[in-house]
Amino acid sequence: MIEEKEYLLRRKSFLKHLKNNSAALLFAAVPKVRSHDTNYPYRQESNFYYLSGFEEDSAALLFVKSKEGSKSYLFVHKKDPDEELWNGKRLGVKKAKKRFLVDEVFSYDTLNQELKKLLGSKRHIYYDFKLDYSKVKLIKRYAKAVESFHNGAAYIEKMRLRKSAAEIAEIRKAIKITKKAHHRAMQRAKSLSFEYELQAEFEYIFKKEGAQSDAYTTIVASGNNANTLHYISNRAKLDKETLILIDAGCEYNCYASDITRTIPASKRFSDAQRELYSLVLSVEKEIISMVRPAVLRSALQKRAEELLCEGMLALGILKGELDSLLESKAHKKYFPHGIGHWMGLDVHDQAPYKDEKGREIPLQAGMVLTVEPGIYIDKNDKSVPKKYRGIAIRIEDDILVTQDGYENLSKGIKKEIRDIESLASL
Ligand code: GLY
Ligand code: MN
Ligand code: MN
Repeated sequence: MIEEKEYLLRRKSFLKHLKNNSAALLFAAVPKVRSHDTNYPYRQESNFYYLSGFEEDSAALLFVKSKEGSKSYLFVHKKDPDEELWNGKRLGVKKAKKRFLVDEVFSYDTLNQELKKLLGSKRHIYYDFKLDYSKVKLIKRYAKAVESFHNGAAYIEKMRLRKSAAEIAEIRKAIKITKKAHHRAMQRAKSLSFEYELQAEFEYIFKKEGAQSDAYTTIVASGNNANTLHYISNRAKLDKETLILIDAGCEYNCYASDITRTIPASKRFSDAQRELYSLVLSVEKEIISMVRPAVLRSALQKRAEELLCEGMLALGILKGELDSLLESKAHKKYFPHGIGHWMGLDVHDQAPYKDEKGREIPLQAGMVLTVEPGIYIDKNDKSVPKKYRGIAIRIEDDILVTQDGYENLSKGIKKEIRDIESLASL
């Protein structure tokens, strides 16, 4: 649980950053149609949530800063029995006033009239530059004295780089549930026949344990399917000779987890699978051990590429001199993605990787990132020894940067071959 006080402090920090004589407007996410008149489950926009903690749609946050002082206003959908009959209870203005430590709460249907009053004299206006055009038009209509528009999302996303203790607690909770699901999948894979059955195990545990959602669509990619990095169809029959790459994490109170494990469809890894798996695992462990304040993410990337390249050379997957293979980036064919990303309210957390001057932001205590090396070998790649073709492996953990190093938040999720095999034989 994140306390109202913490949201208040975040809003204060945001207001402090705004120029004098300015206003900033943030909107709740717009509900998305799935088909005709049914919607996807609603998920709040992350920056709006970060500053408000409010879960409902049809809402906005307005900040106003002038010589007389700074104010924050929340607009919420009013109580409306007809609407509530279909879509559920609304908090409403009166209760929102009690719950939120904002200066004023208004009904969302008065937004235009308040904007007219509060925006008209402001010189600087902040909004999320990704905002859809109809809302941008609305802002511009009332911004009569404006000198400059600014991307309000940029500063919030910078604030989101380092997580508070309360945010880390939410991430831990998400990972705890995800751990249960991965361990259950390790036990049950041998007795299941289709990728989607494994997906169902994850969705079952996520819901049963109180997670509101998955943080992204679960990837259950067996055999050669795992060469498709964002494989989400999950329809194939499980070939018991193959490995299954499962990239799955739940979202708890809007905070993500993002965990990949690669497990045998039967009870045991074959020798070739074991060789590749051991390489990826040793690289993953070494990269995790490098995590500490002041280290650059690009250094993690570079070291992962070196280690994978060297390992693939030793296994005969790459051929030639290590230095020239590294120089020509030959390993990219088998490790085409990044070593990791920020994680938080979004699985790929919308927080910057570079500062205003374009310099890479080094790791700092409180940041959370994934470490996720992989090797992906297509079944038709004739340049690779036959025994490795059609094997794709990724191992991914969620790492908190601490004052003196790191904490692997997902260290309890089994990844040693012997531990996976012993769970599989239960
Ligand atoms: N699950 C998405 C990723 O690993 O980046
Ligand atoms: Mn990831
Ligand atoms: Mn992932």
